Amino acid sequence: MEEIESYEFTWVGKKAAAAEAFMPVTKTLRPCPEESVDWDNTQNLYIEGDNLDALKLLQEEYLNKVKMIYIDPPYNTGNDFVYRDDFRMTKEEWNEKTGAKSEKRKRLSRNSFDYGRFHSAWCSMIYPRLLLARELLTDDGAIFISIDDNELDNLKKICNEVFGESNFVCNFIWNTKKAAQGMATANMVVANHEYVLVYAKEISNFRFNGVERDENNGFSNPDNDPRGLWKRQYLQRLGQGLPVRTITDPATGNTFSFETPYTQEKLERWIEEGRIIFPADPSKYPARKEFLSEYAHKQQLVTSLGLFATKATTEKLYALFDGEKIFNNPKPDTLIKFLVDQGTAAGDVVLDFFSGSATTAHAVMQLNAEDNGNRRFIMVQLDEQCDPNSKAFKAGYTTISEIGKERIRRAGAMIKQSLAPNASPLDVGFQVYKIGDNG
Ligand SMILES: C[S@@+](CC[C@H](N)C(=O)[O-])C[C@H]1O[C@@H](n2cnc3c(N)ncnc32)[C@H](O)[C@@H]1O
Repeated sequence: MEEIESYEFTWVGKKAAAAEAFMPVTKTLRPCPEESVDWDNTQNLYIEGDNLDALKLLQEEYLNKVKMIYIDPPYNTGNDFVYRDDFRMTKEEWNEKTGAKSEKRKRLSRNSFDYGRFHSAWCSMIYPRLLLARELLTDDGAIFISIDDNELDNLKKICNEVFGESNFVCNFIWNTKKAAQGMATANMVVANHEYVLVYAKEISNFRFNGVERDENNGFSNPDNDPRGLWKRQYLQRLGQGLPVRTITDPATGNTFSFETPYTQEKLERWIEEGRIIFPADPSKYPARKEFLSEYAHKQQLVTSLGLFATKATTEKLYALFDGEKIFNNPKPDTLIKFLVDQGTAAGDVVLDFFSGSATTAHAVMQLNAEDNGNRRFIMVQLDEQCDPNSKAFKAGYTTISEIGKERIRRAGAMIKQSLAPNASPLDVGFQVYKIGDNG
């Protein structure tokens, strides 16, 4: 029988990975007040364990309740940092799983066969987690995923399947450094950017908050208008088949005719209010004064976010830990704060289920301190052992979750200290739960 082809992204192990998402969880959350901060009053959570279990355990209480998910999964670079970042199968594992496909097929496809070994396990890791994560998002929520070129194309295809291609919002690019550093690469190019892929649960319900306009951006007050800073906006829109209106300068009696979307009534009202600037030359066009005070619209974002230097970020984190080099390449807290600011409002829940050194918790607390918000965070982190040769291990941190919890304690205390005496109370506490076996 002829095989029916379909448009689908697949890899070795996909079916089993999907099944993992739907397997019932046999684990439970054990409260750990002794490692928590302000247990009785805090709304923030820190969950220690595998995020696949955590995402299942969160379904009951947080179904449709999370406004923003930010994750920074391992990028599958093949390097191991403090945590595992190599999802390659060995040749033996690969041959066993694929039944070592024919030599002919190998020869015909230059890439996909052997490369499958590098990418399949990563795809199988992220896929069930995204399936579960989607369920937690509010109807106007979105997921933000940090990634680099190693898995961007696979991640995008998986997200298209899980969230729907129509729910793709954008792919932000940000720069990790200004210039090439260190030894030259073989082909004389070095990547200095990463991505943040954004998908909405439902595109028509999601929008970013937008950025404040730069007050001086084109606004001035050359005529000392008591209404304050203003800028010139043209009234005419030529060549679009719009109606032609005629207005008269009350001072000179000159008339001006032009195609415009504005009604005659509106133009007359603007003249009465002294908002129209008439040129002395009747062959030119009048313009409208737009006042900054009435300029309510925020500016749209652009997808190129600029520089968030990772080196400076790492140094800031070391300083928080009294100079101990406990975690290399955390995400810039300023970048995450920007994203949280764009994706949430006061009271929203922010989830990070690959939380590492807990940059997201730090960013949420900092943003709340700055805008009097009361966003809540949920961090999930595997109790992954730190490499015994790592600086973190030598400084006394045996697991990454220990680093994460200590970061929140230290960052919370620091942020609280910087608050004005009359500032509203800030939740820098968190309840720790550990995922354990039932019973
Ligand atoms: C790239 S790091 C995140 C770094 C983080 N954004 C920061 O700024 O510190 C990925 C983290 O995910 C954790 N991780 C990997 N697999 C996990 C799993 N199955 N469950 C929970 N955490 C996991 C790793 O231990 C690592 O700390």
